[in-house]
Amino acid sequence: MTTRRIVDLLRHGQPDETVTIQGWVRTKREQKEFTFVEINDGSSMSGLQAILNQDLPGYAEAVRKLNTGASVAIDGVLVPSPGKGQRIELQATSVTVYGEADAETYPLQKKRHSFEFLRDIAHLRARTNTIGAVFRVRNACSTAIHQFFQERGFLWVHTPIISANDCEGAGELFTITTMDLKQVPKTDAGEIDYSQDFFGRRAFLTVSGQLEAEIMAMAFSNVYTFGPTFRAENSNTSRHLAEFWMVEPEMAFCDLVGNMDLAEAFLKHIFRYVLEHCPEDMEFFNQRIDNSVLATANNIINNEFERITYTDAIGMLEKADRKFEFPVSWGLDLQSEHERYLAEELFKKPVIVTDYPAQIKAFYMRLSDDEKTVRAMDILAPKIGEIVGGSQREERLDVLQRRIQQLGLPEEDLWWYLDLRRFGTVPHAGFGLGFERVVQFMTGMTNIRDVIPFPRTPLNAEF
Ligand code: 4AD
Ligand code: MG
Repeated sequence: MTTRRIVDLLRHGQPDETVTIQGWVRTKREQKEFTFVEINDGSSMSGLQAILNQDLPGYAEAVRKLNTGASVAIDGVLVPSPGKGQRIELQATSVTVYGEADAETYPLQKKRHSFEFLRDIAHLRARTNTIGAVFRVRNACSTAIHQFFQERGFLWVHTPIISANDCEGAGELFTITTMDLKQVPKTDAGEIDYSQDFFGRRAFLTVSGQLEAEIMAMAFSNVYTFGPTFRAENSNTSRHLAEFWMVEPEMAFCDLVGNMDLAEAFLKHIFRYVLEHCPEDMEFFNQRIDNSVLATANNIINNEFERITYTDAIGMLEKADRKFEFPVSWGLDLQSEHERYLAEELFKKPVIVTDYPAQIKAFYMRLSDDEKTVRAMDILAPKIGEIVGGSQREERLDVLQRRIQQLGLPEEDLWWYLDLRRFGTVPHAGFGLGFERVVQFMTGMTNIRDVIPFPRTPLNAEF
């Protein structure tokens, strides 16, 4: 007999079908002559209820072992369920317990646990309703992302995790080394001698695949990356991780407007896909986590994003009828409180802010004719703040070289990046979507640590 997934049985199972299920016990209710056990195999929020009658061979032992958390295979026959909220249930004909879970020490008890507590048991938390739903939605978001780009002819390119460049220029790099830290080789000048390190130079975990994606876009026109990125930002917030996933499309023959249009269509597609493929999980988030989740999703899908310039945004923040903790003035970066004010309170929908001051943005962004601003764009989302960061890229060799020199960046390390402007340069643009932030936005989960299976944050790399 082949095992059936519980989601499949709940949707399509018919009375009198003989089936096997395998999974973990969520609850057990012992009655006089029979016992109900609810089995979950992770395929859906709802489990399947199995009924074990006392005439089942090995009944007493099976019931004793089937505590919450135990793993089991059950053969049986589907029958219509008289119970509320379920169409069918499983009349067990044989039960195999793979592994018991001690009722006293199994950490996931029936009561509601705090997310903080669940983070400490990240090896078990995927078996809970909320975290289970999060990871199913996360999976659906990934599928939606690939579907969106593949349908449009974008090539998925794999950019390296080990890199020698600091794309964002923010100095938030994790150095990787195989040097003996007790005996680090030094140069005559007393500095660390990275020429003796594994790569013969200093290397890092990548903060972004963008520069390599640009290389690929100069051959394939439209590409995207989707992978982990790393930032040694010492920020302990509900929106920052030291290891997070980023999606970075890069398009040749594209300007900032094309970039914004793609980003907006992209976000709408992800929301539409998840609503269609995870209705039960999304309903759960709406009921139990944040009762605006479904309205937000529909709002995203059905409304155009607001588009304003940074200069307009500063004007609006200066006129706001409230005090901000951080100062607002042309030339200063927007803080998360400012971003949230614009998206959450003023426009009540995602806002695309463009044309930021050059001095607060990365070296690769295209300088505008005013020489003060760059063709940058950030998408700000209600409750999250910045969810997408992108720009049109500087395709002019001389302007790019000037920017690199002004910022004091090592031009010799970027020789290959400059070569792209020497040989067949084209206008091009792209953006990065913070994958965990979109899952947060979608589910209403307030802490980013609860939307990635194994969060890495300052002082935390367990599991
Ligand atoms: O704005 P960022 O730094 O942009 C880039 O890295 C560009 N190279 C992207 C590109 O144009 N190809 O990061 C992009 C997005 C942010 O908008 C945010 O959503 C997310 O990545 N992000 C983080 N998410 C979680 N934890 C962090 N520490 C993050 N830092 C950025
Ligand atoms: Mg950014």
